[in-house]
Amino acid sequence: MTPLIQATGLTKHFPVRTGGILRRVTTPLRAVEAVDLSIQPGETMGLVGESGCGKSTLGRLLIRLIPATAGQVLFDGVDLLTLDAAALRRARQAMQIVFQDPYGALNPRMTVEDIIAEPLVIAGSTTIRRRAAVGEMLDKAGLPANARDRYPHEFSGGQRQRIGIARALITRPRFVVCDEPVSALDVSVQAQIVNLLADLRAELGLTYLFIAHDLAVVKHISTRVAVMYLGKIVELADRDTLHARPRHPYTRALIASVPAGHPSRRRRGETRRLAGDIPSALHPPPGCRFHTRCPLAIDICRVTEPAVTEPEPGHLIACHVEG
Ligand SMILES: Nc1ncnc2c1ncn2[C@@H]1O[C@H](COP(=O)(O)OP(=O)(O)OP(=O)(O)O)[C@@H](O)[C@H]1O
Ligand code: SF4
Ligand SMILES: [Mg+2]
Repeated sequence: MTPLIQATGLTKHFPVRTGGILRRVTTPLRAVEAVDLSIQPGETMGLVGESGCGKSTLGRLLIRLIPATAGQVLFDGVDLLTLDAAALRRARQAMQIVFQDPYGALNPRMTVEDIIAEPLVIAGSTTIRRRAAVGEMLDKAGLPANARDRYPHEFSGGQRQRIGIARALITRPRFVVCDEPVSALDVSVQAQIVNLLADLRAELGLTYLFIAHDLAVVKHISTRVAVMYLGKIVELADRDTLHARPRHPYTRALIASVPAGHPSRRRRGETRRLAGDIPSALHPPPGCRFHTRCPLAIDICRVTEPAVTEPEPGHLIACHVEG
């Protein structure tokens, strides 16, 4: 089957000004480095890793919200860079994003109707079509019909995220990047939003990249999970394999850091942290980028980057010791 999304060597370096006043230089911040990733139609690819490891940047690259420094993304087998303007507009409607922050992402001066309909305005749809489409999306997102004339501040965090989801889905996309859609929400409503996204995926035939810090959040909704560290995918496997037989030392550490017991512990931030600081993406460590924090590191890890191996079918890992 042709993957819906196929990224090869995808790389993003942000030029950052560093140095003192007299010796200013531009240094590339290596946010995403040579990532290969394919996502099959209908699947939910979970993407997890600590803050700053490049998850959002990778998600934005996949839907061309930002240009890549290097590498290629095929959408349904087609490189978007080869499309003319009209075909590119259609392709853009087929790829949408749900943001983490339902407060910041919605314009407080626009009515819910205008917020949800905005992508259709950009697509040139008629007013009558837009009104009907908004009504349908409010219903699908579990919002009351009278929400359309109200403003974002009149809604709770969970309802605002439902508005964000309705907006993202109104163009009937095929691929949606869900960028930490529940991280800013109270634990008690997180499951409702995850379930809504799962239901909508089934109903509308969607394919997701679902980003989270926390493996526990992606566990229920993902078919496969990719683990990212400092701009690289270090392990990828189907959801059950990754939880039952994690191989990469970083994945094992992430699983160990998921809070045990009641969810309120997570709310209070009582998670066990990985030892050591995340190195700067301005100067990533040579060899394996995880070697500065890895309990299994050996000499080769400090000089040679581990190649990606497939120790069992569909289970990819980049590690000299466990690969
Ligand atoms: N526009 C930008 N200019 C410069 N650096 C950037 C820019 N956007 C992101 N970065 C840097 O790129 C790296 C990856 O950022 P990104 O937001 O993709 O991480 P993330 O995994 O989504 O983090 P979080 O979990 O906090 O959302 C970070 O070091 C970040 O500071
Ligand atoms: S390659 Fe070496 S440093 Fe990197 S994760 Fe494996 S054992 Fe640890
Ligand atoms: Mg992010």
